Amino acid sequence: MTAVAASIGDGGSGGCRHLAIIMDGNGRWAQGRRLPRIAGHREGVEAVRRVVEAAPGLGLDVLTLYAFSSENWKRPADEVSDLMGLLRHYVKSEIDTLHRNGVCLNFIGDWRALKPDLVSLLEAAREKTRANSGLKLVMALNYGGQGEIVRAAQALAAEAAAGTLDPAAITAELLESRLDTAGLPPPDAVLRTSGELRLSNFLLWQTAYAEYLVTDTLWPDFDGAALAAALDEFARRERRFGGR
Ligand code: IPE
Ligand code: IPE
Ligand code: MG
Repeated sequence: MTAVAASIGDGGSGGCRHLAIIMDGNGRWAQGRRLPRIAGHREGVEAVRRVVEAAPGLGLDVLTLYAFSSENWKRPADEVSDLMGLLRHYVKSEIDTLHRNGVCLNFIGDWRALKPDLVSLLEAAREKTRANSGLKLVMALNYGGQGEIVRAAQALAAEAAAGTLDPAAITAELLESRLDTAGLPPPDAVLRTSGELRLSNFLLWQTAYAEYLVTDTLWPDFDGAALAAALDEFARRERRFGGR
């Protein structure tokens, strides 16, 4: 039998333990109200609060949120700066509550390339909540799935070039161990709000066997009930992982 990537499950039932969400539709939410886009992003932060609060009660162990993609730098500078400001605000204002609730906060993506003051804030939040055993909240910041795989390949290539790794010893598990998500179970499901049907460079490797869930709800309107409905939909899916 050939090795199967560690991120591909071996069947079996079970609920959704890891949900990854592409939080989309903030701009359209604002547009529908003739408000500036930042108003939609602000309401989007409220939706994050609601969902993080509801997640553990709905059986989730890991919640990964796509907050800023490596392609989102293409947006106008003022929108990028609004988004970074909201991220800073969210972490500053929420970290004590998250910590109190046992949430362990972490980040994936090239987040260390963000502004130094923001990186320090993120590092501190990570340190503070490192030992918490409740919900693992993973925020994808300056994240792109292709870039993540490229960085993992570079790490392995560097070891091979240094003579400490035999290229023939590279397996799916080894590559996975160099991804930003090393140590996390793969998402059982990926949910995208706002009705868009694309992955937009999110968790390309890790979602090999994830269930796709979509809702027309715009992210700022998302809440615990919408999350419960999405997880109900997941529970009705039959997962096969190539088997039968
Ligand atoms: C999601 O909402 C937030 C981010 C991508 C950061 P959008 O800003 O993409 O909202 P739409 O797609 O324009 O409605
Ligand atoms: C994906 O949403 C990125 C995040 C949710 C952070 P986008 O709104 O940026 O994706 P596209 O451009 O519509 O594919
Ligand atoms: Mg969008």
